[in-house]
Amino acid sequence: MLEVDRINSFYGDSHVLFDVSMKVRAHEVVALLGRNGAGKTTTLKTIAGVIRPRSGTIHFAGEPIHRLASHAIARLGLQLVPEERRIFATLTAEENLRLAALTVPDPWPVERIFDTFPRLAERRRARGGHLSGGEQQMLAIARALIRSPKLILLDEPFEGLAPVIVEDLLSLCQRLAEAGPTIVIVEQNVRAALSLAQRVYILNNGHNVFEGTPRSLHDNPEVMSRYIGVGAEEEAI
Ligand SMILES: Nc1ncnc2c1ncn2[C@@H]1O[C@H](COP(=O)(O)OP(=O)(O)O)[C@@H](O)[C@H]1O
Ligand SMILES: [Mg+2]
Repeated sequence: MLEVDRINSFYGDSHVLFDVSMKVRAHEVVALLGRNGAGKTTTLKTIAGVIRPRSGTIHFAGEPIHRLASHAIARLGLQLVPEERRIFATLTAEENLRLAALTVPDPWPVERIFDTFPRLAERRRARGGHLSGGEQQMLAIARALIRSPKLILLDEPFEGLAPVIVEDLLSLCQRLAEAGPTIVIVEQNVRAALSLAQRVYILNNGHNVFEGTPRSLHDNPEVMSRYIGVGAEEEAI
């Protein structure tokens, strides 16, 4: 589904990603972890075409995308849900969804979105600015989903949300993954991310430092503490 091969990304002269590689198979949930500043957001932005890699290749569903503009990549079925949710505050939840659906040939029917996100159905007439943090995050994910993507990149979807909301969103993401799209999730909430993911990549200072299953990560507590700062007491899931 996605094959990132030794990409190098820069902000101006500042070299941020060093030969970063990752592979994501169809219908898989992959977690991308690492400390603040490790290069996770930059990796997602490079995949989505927001940043152009200076070298390396990215293939999506067999096609090279590393030279395409972000809108062209989106049209191929790859959706980035950025950290900043960019909900239109003065539009209702439903209007936010319908707007996102406008420019794709085969969007999900809005009612199917509401079946998947019952909480949003209740809030369909509420303005974006009046939604809670959790509801806004749900709307941000729903807005990506309505464009019927093959791959969704989630950048810290649980950030700043209360634990009970995270639990809700987690089960939603679980259902989402079962419903079809492949998911790459970046999270500081390691426990949440590992409960969703089948495979894990860890970045450190812009370098790949670990690739494996959540189980193999648990069997490597020194990797956990060195690269994500999770102590022994926290790692039992
Ligand atoms: N717009 C930017 N301009 C310059 N440097 C940036 C920019 N965004 C991020 N960086 C730097 O790139 C590195 C990786 O950042 P980022 O990808 O946001 O990490 P993460 O998402 O893992 O916290 C950090 O050193 C960060 O300071
Ligand atoms: Mg980030």
